[in-house]
Parts: sequence; structure tokens; C-alpha cells
Amino acid sequence: MGDGIFTNRMFHEWKMNRKLVSSGFKFSMLKSFVPIFYEEAKFLSQVLYEKRENNTDECEISWAISMATLEMIGRTALDVKFNAQKNAKHVFVENLHVILKVWEYRMLHPWFLNKSIFQLSSLKRKHDISQLKIYNFIDDLVQRKITGLKNNINNLEEHNKESIGLKSKSFIEIMLENRHQMTFNQLRDEIITVMIGGQDTTGMTNACIIFMLAHHQDVQNKVLEELLTIFSSGDPDRQLTYDDLQKMEYLERVIKETMRHFPPLPLFGRNVEKETMIGGYLIPAGSTFLIFPALLHFNAQIYPDPEKFNPDNFLPEACRSRHPYSFLPFSAGYRNCPGYKYAMLQMKTVISTLVRSYRFYPSDKCPKPENLRIMLSTTLKFVDGCYVKIEART
Ligand code: HEM
Repeated sequence: MGDGIFTNRMFHEWKMNRKLVSSGFKFSMLKSFVPIFYEEAKFLSQVLYEKRENNTDECEISWAISMATLEMIGRTALDVKFNAQKNAKHVFVENLHVILKVWEYRMLHPWFLNKSIFQLSSLKRKHDISQLKIYNFIDDLVQRKITGLKNNINNLEEHNKESIGLKSKSFIEIMLENRHQMTFNQLRDEIITVMIGGQDTTGMTNACIIFMLAHHQDVQNKVLEELLTIFSSGDPDRQLTYDDLQKMEYLERVIKETMRHFPPLPLFGRNVEKETMIGGYLIPAGSTFLIFPALLHFNAQIYPDPEKFNPDNFLPEACRSRHPYSFLPFSAGYRNCPGYKYAMLQMKTVISTLVRSYRFYPSDKCPKPENLRIMLSTTLKFVDGCYVKIEART
């Protein structure tokens, strides 16, 4: 992610670039992404059904969901189809996987976090080759977009754009229009930051939501009930709209409760510039302050019976009774997640589309949520995959 806003430590540079990145998350932009989310979610439901084992209905869902969210972010951020759900080989996808694997390896073998040791390793060479390929791909895309913008035809010809269903502009186009003094390298870093920030996080959460629905049939029933009400008039199989998503209040609570249990970024850090007292403890200047949403979310003083999966923890009155920073999956403050609304729309689309088609049950391969093994690498990850049983609704 280079000097993208996620990793940038220069406050003024971050502030300027954050404004630019945020311009890509405007309401009108997000609304125009919904048909793309829906199209890919429909495709995902087909992929999952075909992937399940015929005799047991069991299915490992996390990989297919991750490919679907990658496709969504590719189409909305870059205006590019990777065909990731069809397992097509794409230079960006293949090399992003290599880089994330290297990153994961370094997290799990922390001596490789030491720059000198990493520099000497074959891992670094592997990383650099993939990084270069990603850079070349993005640079080439940016060049084509610029030519397109200059010719006033928005890079891809209109008919091509229509064919991938993107009616509005993508992030890359918005950034190019507003970039002013931003260098190409910076622009590239911001684009890669958005791509990485938006993929694994929503992929992991979507898989966890399906897993929790499979293990809490009462909650799954309520989600279905809400969807049946929303889609009760007209064709029950119709395409969902942005307005439908606004009505999915219970599903929103389920998503939040899942993120309380499995915050995709379970810890993040802040540099302490000035000596500060917090809760009677002195935090020295120059230290790094780690915030663990994963621990905070299980604090019994904040969430009574914290181990219980209870979407009512997010009823409006329950939220009002807590400190606003008691729920931090998207962080908070200046450096909170700018993709929050994008993520909620995308996750609501994916889950509602899957629940409209299927009922999910626990798999024998992972009979209880307590058996679900997760680990921290770049984000939370499944150690042995995420299994559920899938049954078509009749
Ligand atoms: C379930 C979904 C998501 C979760 C849980 C999540 C979580 C977070 C968190 C915790 C941070 C702040 C990290 C910190 O404070 O150090 C963050 C930052 C960020 N996220 Fe997300 N995110 C999600 C989805 C997305 C999406 C969909 C996008 C883009 C399409 C995105 C783009 C970013 C970017 C660019 C930053 C850096 C912001 C900055 O430092 O100014 N995220 N995210």
C-alpha cells in the first residue's frame, strides 16, 4: 500500500489524500454500485450451490465469497472485470495473493518483520516481482483512463461500460478527476489501498455472517422474515434496490453483531505524540498504542453476556446506552474506515441475496462456533476454512 492513506504517517499528506479518497464514497457513487453488488452476489449464490458436496450439502464458503468481494471491488474501484468468480487468471489477482501471502508469512514469522532480514530473503524477491507486476497493471490502467478522460469517453467505450453494468464513475475515475497535485505513484498507492482495504475485510465478514446464521436458526428465520416482508409486493425474485437495503434493519443488526464477535481488523495502532494519561496510566510520548476491538467487544461491562450471539445488542436503545466507541470494527475518529457505508451496502446485498435463495445449516466439519478456528494475519482469517451446509429454498 506504499504511502496510501492507511499507512501514511505524514499528517498533511494523509489529510489531503484522505479527502480525495473520501470523494469516491459519496452517496450517489455508492448507490450506483448496488446493481454490481447484486449481480456478483447472484453469481456467488450459483457458485456456492455448485461447490457444495452433493451427498452432504457441505460447502467451504470463504474462498468463493472472497473471490466475489474481490470482483466487486475490482468493478467498482477500477472499473475492471477480473472474472475472479470464474477462477480466471488475472495479473492483479494472482500477484495480490502472492503479496498477501508474503505479508501473512511475515506476521506469523515475526523475525521477517525486521527489514534487514526480510531484505535478504527469497520472500522479498518474490514480493518485489509481484509488486512490480501490480504497479505495471495499475500504471497501465491509469494511463488508459487518462487518455480516455482526455478524449472525453471515460476510458472504456460506453458500450463496454454498459456491458459491465457500471452506470456511474469508478473510484479510479473520481480520483483522476480530483487528483490535482497528487503524483502518479501516490495515486497508485491510494488505489491499491482501497482495493486491499475493501476486499478481505468484507469477504471475511460475509463468511462469518453466513456461518453465524447457520448456527443460529432463530436469527436466520428473522432475517428471512424481514426479507419476505421487503420483497412481498411484486415479483418475489426481483432484483434488489438501494431502497430495499435501507429497510434491512434486522439484517444490519446481525451484521454488526457478527462484527462484534469477529472484527476483521482485530487490532490497530496509534503513535502517541504527546505524553498522555489514560485511565490512570501514563502513556509515554513515542510509544505505540494498540487498540484491540476484539477484546473490547467482549467486555462484560459493556456487553452483558458477551459470548452470546445477540443482534439485539444493536437495537437503537442499546446503542444509545453505550459509549459510542464501544464498538470499533471500523475504528473511530479521524482515521476511521472511509469504506464503512460501502461495506454495509455490499454485505447487506450479499447476505440478503444468499438468504433469499438458501437455508444454511451447521456443517459436521465445524459443528459449533467455538470450533471455528480463526487466526490473525493481515486481517482475521479462517485456519481450516469456513464450512456450512447449503439447502435450496423451495
Ligand atoms: C467489513 C468491512 C470493513 C472493516 C471491518 C474495515 C475496517 C477498517 C478499520 C478498522 C480501519 C482503520 C484502521 C486504523 O485505524 O488503523 C480501516 C481503514 C480503512 N479502510 Fe476499512 N474496513 C472495511 C471495509 C472497507 C472498504 C469496503 C473499503 C474501501 C472500499 C475500506 C477502505 C479503508 C481505507 C482506505 C482505510 C484507511 C483510512 C485512513 O487511514 O485514513 N474499508 N478500515
